[in-house]
Amino acid sequence: MAGIIEKFRLDGKKALVTGAGRGIGRGFATALAEAGADVAVADILEEDAMRTAGEIADATGRRVFGIHADIAQPGDVRRMVAETVSAFGRLDIAVNNAGISLPIKSALDVTDGEWKRQFDVNLNGTWNCVREEARAMIPNRYGKIINTGSICGHIIWPTPQLPYSVSKAAVLHLTRAAAAEFIRYGIRVNSISPGVTKVDALFPEVIDTFFKTAPIDRYGLPEDHQGALIFLAGPLSDFMVGQDLVLDGGYTIM
Ligand SMILES: NC(=O)c1ccc[n+]([C@@H]2O[C@H](COP(=O)([O-])OP(=O)(O)OC[C@H]3O[C@@H](n4cnc5c(N)ncnc54)[C@H](O)[C@@H]3O)[C@@H](O)[C@H]2O)c1
Repeated sequence: MAGIIEKFRLDGKKALVTGAGRGIGRGFATALAEAGADVAVADILEEDAMRTAGEIADATGRRVFGIHADIAQPGDVRRMVAETVSAFGRLDIAVNNAGISLPIKSALDVTDGEWKRQFDVNLNGTWNCVREEARAMIPNRYGKIINTGSICGHIIWPTPQLPYSVSKAAVLHLTRAAAAEFIRYGIRVNSISPGVTKVDALFPEVIDTFFKTAPIDRYGLPEDHQGALIFLAGPLSDFMVGQDLVLDGGYTIM
């Protein structure tokens, strides 16, 4: 019988991570490969996807390849999932991490186009992925889908980010609704909500706001979310359905 540490291993599993060219998604893809999975690294930034895939493959010896895809385009998402299944033979783990945040500004100044793009990527894009991934997993009667939420989906962030917050709250409810519907096929849908995590794209004002009330004395790093991802991707979380894991240095308890 496998011991508890061995049960975290993902040897032979086939995974897909969106928004994996950089930032938190790159950390997720790296962790999956280190745990033994083969990984498709998808990103709207083609160069980042290809470079990151090559670097993870070199570091881990796993099969890792890049896919250029915009999750807001249903056709791209169908191709992304089809390429993954074609390369690996099946899809076991899907991490829907790609997301964008509008510049911080009053909701009254957000244009119709900005609002639409925010939801086209964070909500509609995540749904495009969940739907296609579920379709690919149903024949296996098992699968793990992990969405990236945000603490902004739970609380209202002090600096104005209304469209982002609403889109992430919707991702958390999409996670629950999809979990309830797809568990009959053995597919577990859960999410991870990062708190402030240092990536190149992070707005400096967000870090200042974080330190005003955060109980911890540092911001998060992509590595801080890897352990939760490996737990949700493997069998130890099989009884977890439609839940969200918050990793935020305690920001939301204050
Ligand atoms: N960094 C934080 O503090 C923080 C906090 C909470 C939640 N998040 C969430 O974590 C996720 C990852 O963000 P990050 O902080 O690593 O930022 P990031 O910008 O470094 O990474 C996001 C990645 O997604 C890709 N992407 C954007 N739009 C895409 C699209 N339409 N199709 C495919 N790929 C696309 C980007 O090219 C990028 O590589 C996002 O969903 C974000 O909302 C981040």
